[in-house]
Formats: sequence, C-alpha cells, structure tokens
Amino acid sequence: MSLIKILRKTCRKALFTTPSHGQKYFIFNKFRNFYKYDISETDFYNPQEALEKAELQASKIYGTKSTLFLTNGSSSGIIAAVLASVSAGEKVLLWRNAHPCHNNAVKLAGAVPVYYDLQISQEWDIPLKTTVENLETYLKNEKIKAVIVTSPTYEGIVSDIQALKSLCSKYGAYLIVDEAHGALYPFSENLPESAVKIADFTIQSLHKTAGGLNPTALLHCNCNLDIKKALSLINTTSPSYPLLASIEANINFLNSKRGKKQLELLISNIKSLKENCSNCEFFGDDITKILVKHKDYTGFELSEHLYEKENIEDEKTNSKSTMLLCGIGTGEKKLKRLENALRKL
Ligand SMILES: Cc1ncc(COP(=O)(O)O)c(C=O)c1O
Repeated sequence: MSLIKILRKTCRKALFTTPSHGQKYFIFNKFRNFYKYDISETDFYNPQEALEKAELQASKIYGTKSTLFLTNGSSSGIIAAVLASVSAGEKVLLWRNAHPCHNNAVKLAGAVPVYYDLQISQEWDIPLKTTVENLETYLKNEKIKAVIVTSPTYEGIVSDIQALKSLCSKYGAYLIVDEAHGALYPFSENLPESAVKIADFTIQSLHKTAGGLNPTALLHCNCNLDIKKALSLINTTSPSYPLLASIEANINFLNSKRGKKQLELLISNIKSLKENCSNCEFFGDDITKILVKHKDYTGFELSEHLYEKENIEDEKTNSKSTMLLCGIGTGEKKLKRLENALRKL
C-alpha cells in the first residue's frame, strides 16, 4: 500500500495514539488536510514498511543503490553523508564558501575541514565549477577521506562529476555531491547530467526546483556505507507522514508522462524567453536558472528595477548579474511577464 493510501485509510479511524490532535484541525484550520493525514509511525497499516517500499521504488527510478526520503532538507542529507563517510579526526575537503550545512556536517562528525577555493567569474561575479585541478593537490598531499562538491552552484554552474568521481576514487576518498538545486536533472535530457548514479552520495532538495513542499529532499547513495544508521543519528523518530507521502507523490509525478511534459514545456518556455531578450546576456549550464545581466545595469540595479518597477523578485543578486530561479511550477504567464520586463530594459 502506498503512503498516501495509508494516510487516507487511517484518518477515518478513532485513533488513541500520537499525534493527539486526533487528525482534527481545531488549532489551525488552514491546514485542515495536513492535520487529517498526520499519523504516527506506529499506525496499524505500518507506514514504516510503506516508506521502505516507496524508497526502494525511488531507487529504481533514479538508478541508485538506495534513495532515502528526507523531511529536514538537503542540509540533513549532507550531514548524514559526512557522518557516514568519516570518523572523528579524519579530513574532509570542502569549498570555502559552501552552504553552512557543509561546515556543520564536518563539525558534527568531529572531522577536520580542509578548504578549497573556486575561480570567480569577473564578468558575472559568481563562482565557477569545481575542477580536478581545484582538488588534486589537496588529495595528493593530505589524507582526505571525503570531498563535498556543490553542483550545480546556486547560479547553475555544473561540474564534471564523472571526472571528480574518478579523481576521488584514485585517492580513496568518498565523493558527496550537493545537488540541492538540481533535483530536476534526472528527468530531462535537456538538463545537465545528474550526479545521482555517479557520486557516492548525492543530495537533492525537492522543495527548491522540483515542486516539493519545504523542506522535502532526497539522499541518494551508491556505496556500501551505512547511511541509514548515520541518518538515524540526526533524524526524529516521529517523521511527518504527510511530508513523506508528498515525496512519494512528487517522484511519481516527475517520473510520469505528465511531469516530463510539464518539465519540457518549462525548458522550452525559458528557451524562448532567452531568445526573445536579445538586449540581455545569459549565462550558466542550467537553463532553469535565469542568470541575466544588462549592459546598463549592475546586478543590484537590475534586481532593484525588477522589484520596484515590475514587481518581480529574483532569487539572488551580485554586482554584475541577477538570478531568477525557475522550477517545475513556473508557468508560462509568469515567464512572459519576466520576458516583457527584460525586453523593456
Ligand atoms: C547549495 C545549497 N546546498 C544546500 C542547501 C540546504 O538545502 P535545504 O534548505 O534543503 O536544507 C542549500 C539551501 O539553500 C543550498 O543553496
């Protein structure tokens, strides 16, 4: 039985169990259905077994050794991957300006951080990809046990994960890929190649680009380390089944004909936006991140102009460029509005 079926069945029973809101919404009625489906892990229909089945099915879809559902974001997946890979005192190679969870993971593992830097594009004011050259000296000279790479970057710059995996294998280090911003990659040939089948661990936020609720995410594993045990060190024993069921539904949607059609439509809509805005420049490996600049504006000015004059809010801005993030839920109408605003610049 799928997770969602269990939730539908259980919410009709008289439950003398946790959670004690009794599947009612007397406290916050806007979340009526969320309360209704919020059941306990000890429920009669065995949602834990259903979760294991859903995760197994997901690993088949992604082509991984195992795939685990996360309800505390990519942050928890990255922490678990580091906890599984290294022991106290061992070294982890990580990007100096990575998301804070990378450093937190190293700290929690009692490991030793070794930092690498990335080249910054002067033209776009963004970090560029992680290369073999960025990492090899450290791997050669220090006893590195795990490497964390962010690909794509926030702005949509993608690294050659196959080359980085070969490098890590050569030096006996685990490769952990923070693919938080690339959860759509496994579902389209028109997007960059995902790390899910290549890296030892790949972590993706479903909530960032793939239509998931905050903070749903996935942890993909291709090695023999005990990732479930590592995850149990930081996970609650009372998971949110509505969120877990939403992950199951999310993956099924992305993998369905309907989901794939919607993704291809998004990609072709963004493609035509970029073609129609010949007054602007675009950059990046991932078409769904609209990294844009205009010769008459700094990135900050462009961001302010879009916000003040067009009521359009971007995701991230720097001195040279502005990034507008799109995902599976970004519709044609919204993109047309952005296109018109950019063409007017
Ligand atoms: C590159 C990167 N990695 C990891 C994370 C953490 O993801 P989550 O919010 O799903 O925990 C973020 C969040 O912004 C991020 O930008």
